[in-house]
Order: sequence, then C-alpha cells, then structure tokens
Amino acid sequence: MRVLLIGGSGQLGTAILRRWSDCEIVAPPHRELDIADSDALRSAVERIEPDALVNAAAFHDVDTCEREPEAAFAINAVAVGRAARLARDRGAIFLTISTDYVFDGASDVAYAETDLPRPLSVYGASKVAGEHLTQSSGGKAFVVRTCGVYGESSTTSRRPLIRRVLGWRAGDAPLRVVDDVFVSPTFAGHLADALRRLIATPAYGLYHAVNEGPVTWYEYALEAARSAGLAMPIHPIGASQWKADAVRPRFSALSNGRLARLRITIPDWREGIRAYLGSLKAS
Ligand SMILES: NC(=O)c1ccc[n+]([C@@H]2O[C@H](COP(=O)([O-])OP(=O)(O)OC[C@H]3O[C@@H](n4cnc5c(N)ncnc54)[C@H](OP(=O)(O)O)[C@@H]3O)[C@@H](O)[C@H]2O)c1
Repeated sequence: MRVLLIGGSGQLGTAILRRWSDCEIVAPPHRELDIADSDALRSAVERIEPDALVNAAAFHDVDTCEREPEAAFAINAVAVGRAARLARDRGAIFLTISTDYVFDGASDVAYAETDLPRPLSVYGASKVAGEHLTQSSGGKAFVVRTCGVYGESSTTSRRPLIRRVLGWRAGDAPLRVVDDVFVSPTFAGHLADALRRLIATPAYGLYHAVNEGPVTWYEYALEAARSAGLAMPIHPIGASQWKADAVRPRFSALSNGRLARLRITIPDWREGIRAYLGSLKAS
C-alpha cells in the first residue's frame, strides 16, 4: 500500500513511519507540503498516486486556536475536507485524526462514538467541522478520535507530560499535575498499530482509538514515574490553577467500542506507558 502521510514529523506521524513497515510511505515535511495549500496537496496526490492519504497533521495548540479561529478552521476543517475529496476522487482511502476535545466533559463515563459532540473550544469546534467534512466527502474515509497522545517526534515542539516526568532531575521543583481532569492518555505507537489494522478493513466511519482509562493526569504521572523507577515529588493541583485561554473538558476519556467490534484491541493506559518506555530504551 502506498501512503501519502501528512504530519510525518509529529508524534503520531513518527510512529506510523516506524511501525507501518509493510507500507511504502511518502511523508513530505510541513515546509514542502502544507495541508492548507490546495495546489500543493493536489499536485502531491497526483505525483505520489497514494492508495491511502493519511492526515496526522493539525493546528492543535488549543490556546492559540482560540485567538486564531480562521487558521484553526482552515487547517483542521476546510483543508481536511478538501483532502478527503481528493482521496475520494482517486478512489483512495482517507484517514484523519480527531480529538477528545469534541466533547464538553459533562459525562463521567468514557465517551462512545455515538455520544453527541459539544466542543468547548475553537480547536474542538474546528475538529468537529473537519469530521463532518470528511464524512460528507462520501469516500472511503475514516475519522479516528484519540486523546492525550504521547510518543517520539522528530520535531521538538511537543513535550507531553511523560517527557516532563522523565526529564525531572533532583533539585528541580516538584512537578505540579492536575488531578481533576480525566483522560485516556495514548501511546502513539499503539495508536499507529490500531490505525494500520483499521485501514486494512472496509469498515469506513468514525472511531475512538485510545489506551483506555479513565485516569487523571496526576495518576498517570505517578504511574509513569513508578514505571520508570523514578522517586520524585509530584503534587496534585486543580485544573482551575492552570491558567489557559481555551476551556478544556474536565472529563474526556474515550472508549474504543467500534474498534473492539472489529476485534482491534489496544492495551490499557498502563501498558501504554510501559510500551513507550520500552520504545525509548530500544531507540
Ligand atoms: N497530541 C495530543 O494530545 C492529541 C490529542 C487528541 C488528538 N490529537 C490529534 O492527533 C493528531 C496527531 O497529533 P500529534 O500529537 O502527533 O501532533 P504533533 O506531534 O504536533 O505533529 C503534528 C504534525 O503536523 C505537522 N503540521 C502542522 N501543521 C501542518 C500543516 N498546516 N500542514 C502540514 N503539516 C502540518 C507538524 O509539522 P511541523 O512540526 O513541522 O509544523 C507535525 O509533523 C492531530 O490531528 C491532533 O489533533 C492529538
């Protein structure tokens, strides 16, 4: 399968490049292919002739999206819809990634694919719009929501919580981590494996794909430190102590019901941490 991957230098993109070893993957860097540049995207699709177009790129600095809604919708919605239609016109598979931030967090059980999105932020709204534009393309399209992604990345811009845990040194201030936000932190490697199996099926549609929780960020940080054999101070704080422009859901754990029906399983959040630590050692 020949794959055109957008966002190949990111956490998920890096995992796909490493783990989809049975695919021929072309992953132009962002500076060569901006998903919002319709001419560049069209000519990349015409040149590469992919069997699958995979979008792991996004404008997902949630607070900046709040101040730049036009850019958020251009990249996360309009460009995604355009990519879905380009893939459809070639008969290619299209897969794009969405987010737990489509939900408002009023639930206290993990969200299923059938739950109604109600985003609290521009970022979440732009991703819901991208989901709808993908699904209305009528092509062989997958939309996969995930949550709290962590993995290796060939760009240095992202620093997920687990890297802050692993980077802590004696003498540093204690880590302060929110203990009233529930999520499903997801190892990019496990997500990439599930996506590879998913696109081998003709079961197009909307999916959730996470290392299931729910778990608070605080509990997750404690477990990450424990798994890495680190004795370090981690202090719980409330989300209200964390100042940010965008409102975030207090509960955004997801459940993988539809993937499970396809017998595609993903290990739980503790296994995600262990697998991530193992992949760091291996590399
Ligand atoms: N990270 C999370 O916690 C999380 C949670 C839920 C859902 N998601 C979704 O999961 C997907 C993957 O996330 P990630 O954590 O792997 O992201 P990431 O590490 O930030 O990587 C994003 C990638 O997209 C590229 N990119 C950004 N804007 C682009 C554009 N306009 N055109 C082309 N490429 C562009 C980046 O390149 P440069 O670095 O060179 O700009 C980078 O390669 C995204 O759709 C995100 O919304 C992430």
